[in-house]
Amino acid sequence: MKAITRQTRLIASDRQGIADAAALLRAGGLVALPTETVYGLGADATDGRAVAGIYAAKGRPSFNPLIAHVATIDAARAQGLFDVLALALARAFWPGPLTLVVPVSNSTTVCDLARAGLDSVALRVPDHPVALDLLGAAGRPVAAPSANLSGHVSPTTASHVLADLDGRIDLVLDDGPTGIGVESTIVACLGGAPRLLRPGGLERARIEAVIGRSLVLDLEGGASPRAPGQLASHYAPRARLIMDAPAPVAGQAWLGFGPLPGEAMQAHQAETLSASGDLLEAAANLFAALRRLDSSGAAEIHVAPVPVQGLGEAINDRLQRAAATR
Ligand code: TXA
Ligand code: MG
Repeated sequence: MKAITRQTRLIASDRQGIADAAALLRAGGLVALPTETVYGLGADATDGRAVAGIYAAKGRPSFNPLIAHVATIDAARAQGLFDVLALALARAFWPGPLTLVVPVSNSTTVCDLARAGLDSVALRVPDHPVALDLLGAAGRPVAAPSANLSGHVSPTTASHVLADLDGRIDLVLDDGPTGIGVESTIVACLGGAPRLLRPGGLERARIEAVIGRSLVLDLEGGASPRAPGQLASHYAPRARLIMDAPAPVAGQAWLGFGPLPGEAMQAHQAETLSASGDLLEAAANLFAALRRLDSSGAAEIHVAPVPVQGLGEAINDRLQRAAATR
């Protein structure tokens, strides 16, 4: 795996620090920021390459959809569609340790990779003055999973962040220990009864008091199998996906990695994840490319081999799922 080397700075969360962090976010950098739950590893949620950097820094072997953090309810409503219950929850608990998964709006600016290709988006307004100032100054949604290496525990201090991510991210905005220490509670409002996807910092009973009913449990990795179509946990194309394909095939779609070969002319439709073979660029393009080729009407999408190193592991994981779920 190619070493990730960035000069990681630790700075105080004063006015200058927040301004520097906002400028870095706007330039596509990786900034660890305090929230009331845990420290998050933030990147511009509208920039696919920046978001790919999050997965690379965490060493995540798969692309899970990320939470887009925004400063206000209005900013959240520009990204997602809130039904009556979702709006009631947002008004009752934001800013606060609640994440709402709602259908994505047509005008969303949250990139495909941050949503893992889904038609829904996870949104949260954190209850933390530094986070809110930073989000306001960045002026765009910020994708932020917990700022730890994949498989490690979530960080509640800046030194926890550094222990995992020093040399892998650009900046840590230090604001001392976080108050809550566990992640936000996640509720999906996707039509029908709201579902609890993850218990967290906001008590379930308080949520149920606002919606006037019990939350349906739909816990991540839970034992109960999900009804098909209930909650798509990952994007699945209609076309059959053929991985590690040696060359484009006439009449079928081709998804390359590296420069497009001459035979791509005969393909039904062809594109490359990255002409230069850059895994960050490939990750940023993955879901949109799959959608384009899928909607081209081809029965099969043949995919060139993508190296299984660094971000390539997550790219291959998603391709494998897409190949299997049809
Ligand atoms: O407290 C928190 O929520 C922290 C701080 C930094 O805000 N963030 C955090 O993010 O825990 P993360 O990326 O570790 O957790 C996001 C969770 C994932 O388990 C993911 O599966 C779920 O949210 N999620 C995101 N978008 C989703 C979607 N569209 N549908 C279903 N689940 C989604
Ligand atoms: Mg986490």
